[in-house]
Amino acid sequence: MPLTRPLPESTVVITGASSGIGAATAYALARRGCAVVLAARTEPALRVVARRCAELGGRPIVVPTDVTDPAAVQRLAAAGTAVGTVAAIARQRRG
Ligand SMILES: NC(=O)c1ccc[n+]([C@@H]2O[C@H](COP(=O)([O-])OP(=O)(O)OC[C@H]3O[C@@H](n4cnc5c(N)ncnc54)[C@H](OP(=O)(O)O)[C@@H]3O)[C@@H](O)[C@H]2O)c1
Repeated sequence: MPLTRPLPESTVVITGASSGIGAATAYALARRGCAVVLAARTEPALRVVARRCAELGGRPIVVPTDVTDPAAVQRLAAAGTAVGTVAAIARQRRG
């Protein structure tokens, strides 16, 4: 999905953000000043990623989320739109 605003003004929701490709995506966007909404099931791992994002200049928020739970996904969407207009959703999980 193309971004509609400059990255430093963008909010990006990243699922699978606690490790691997999701965490790497969060760091890349944080370096560009994005608000990154970090979602996965394991909150302590998300907090570690969030600390690093903040060090890199991003604006992280942590939303523990199991993407197989529709209510949790609704809460994640609400958290994203509370931060700003969501410019992109980066999805890492298979399926
Ligand atoms: N790494 C590669 O080189 C590569 C190459 C091609 C394709 N892929 C595919 O890309 C995807 C990600 O790979 P990866 O290496 O980044 O894997 P990873 O390090 O295992 O990361 C998976 C992420 O998904 C989260 N997750 C898993 N189940 C979840 C659920 N139900 N709800 C919310 N979050 C969930 C995990 O966090 P929690 O467990 O805390 O929820 C974790 O943050 C995989 O499907 C993989 O097969 C990877």
